Amino acid sequence: MRPLLVVVPLLLAAELAYYIYVPLPDSIEEPWKLTMLDATFRTVMHVASFKAWLCGSDYMEVMQQTTQALMGGSAGGEGLPGVKVSDVTFAGVPVRVYEPPAGGEGHLRRGLVYFHGGGWALGSAKSAAYDAVARRVSDELNAVVVSVEYRLYPQAIFPLPYLDCLTSAKHFLSPEVLERYAVDPERVGVSGDSAGGNLAAAVAMEVATDDSARVKFSVQALVYPVLQALDFNTPSYLQNQQIPVLYRPLMVRFWMQYLGAPLSLEPQYMVNNHSSLDQPNLTPELRSRVDWTVLLPKKNQEGYEPLIRERGLKGTTKAVQQLLDVRASPLLAAAEVLAKCPRAYVLTCENDVLRDDGLMYVRRLRDAGVTVTSDHYEGGFHGCFTSTTWPFDFEVGRRSFRAYVDWLKDNL
Ligand SMILES: *[C@@H]1O[C@H](CO)[C@@H](O)[C@H](O)[C@H]1NC(C)=O
Repeated sequence: MRPLLVVVPLLLAAELAYYIYVPLPDSIEEPWKLTMLDATFRTVMHVASFKAWLCGSDYMEVMQQTTQALMGGSAGGEGLPGVKVSDVTFAGVPVRVYEPPAGGEGHLRRGLVYFHGGGWALGSAKSAAYDAVARRVSDELNAVVVSVEYRLYPQAIFPLPYLDCLTSAKHFLSPEVLERYAVDPERVGVSGDSAGGNLAAAVAMEVATDDSARVKFSVQALVYPVLQALDFNTPSYLQNQQIPVLYRPLMVRFWMQYLGAPLSLEPQYMVNNHSSLDQPNLTPELRSRVDWTVLLPKKNQEGYEPLIRERGLKGTTKAVQQLLDVRASPLLAAAEVLAKCPRAYVLTCENDVLRDDGLMYVRRLRDAGVTVTSDHYEGGFHGCFTSTTWPFDFEVGRRSFRAYVDWLKDNL
């Protein structure tokens, strides 16, 4: 009996340590905190799959509810009493509008449309983290911030979430609405992080090339954006496949859900079988737009070889067609289209599968003549930008958020 009393707790402790432990590169700042954030996130995923199995419901739907409960529903005022918050709809799309205290008579404010992250499946404008982002931006920039509650998977897949974002953005950009909110039409930006960065880049591009749009965005601020789905074996996808919280298979899964591809094909997508050389629509021209051997700085290529399949998936033309749609993959846009896009801020993190998506976009935008600020964080990881509140408050999160706000102050 006695030995058991000692051994069992020891085993449990070892089991727990093993569960929590994840090897992290030296460059990651505050690794212990990230380890705990990761353990929390993985626990949520486990609970979600158990609940989904128990109730026979969709895994992502359960995960959505669970993360929502974890992140807190509608957040409190956070000591920014000047910012007025209202939940309204823009052309039928639910949005949360943050208004700074009105300036003097006739004083126009900045405007910013924001799309939250979460793999087109998770997150909410109303979650504590995104509510805090919008309030602080509104307060510090004296900006009217429109945080869009676009539809998510599994209720909606591409192009619906994108169209929700575009529709609400265009509504805000109409001269009447800008006037109603006392926003300067010359100073309206679009922004988002992760999947929200994808939506922001796509919406910025559509508005920039739409001749009927009278008011255009003057800037786009993209925080570790998702920009392409042709290559899941870029150096950053490989280097960071084990780095929390956005593991490589999770990002691939988010993409497949968004594009409506059968999830059973995940092993094929993981090895780039979906973008093999025998895909008839994938022209050399399109391939060159995601060719990291040309688009990435040499130091990011060291030790990596491109993974290009001679033969791959057959008969999935619809999903593959979606892969080539620039509204889903802005990195695939032609140079003439990129040239029309607004001035950009692109935030990237070294320890993030999406690092190379961002860096390649920086290069392609610059090649097209667009002014770009590339803001890279060696110690950063995917998600740090919104990890600024206890217990998961990261120094690199605070630093990146500050730099983002400062860039908007100078450029919007
Ligand atoms: C990728 O495609 C090739 C050719 O069709 C096939 O032989 C291989 O099994 C596929 N790989 C995976 C992981 O499904």
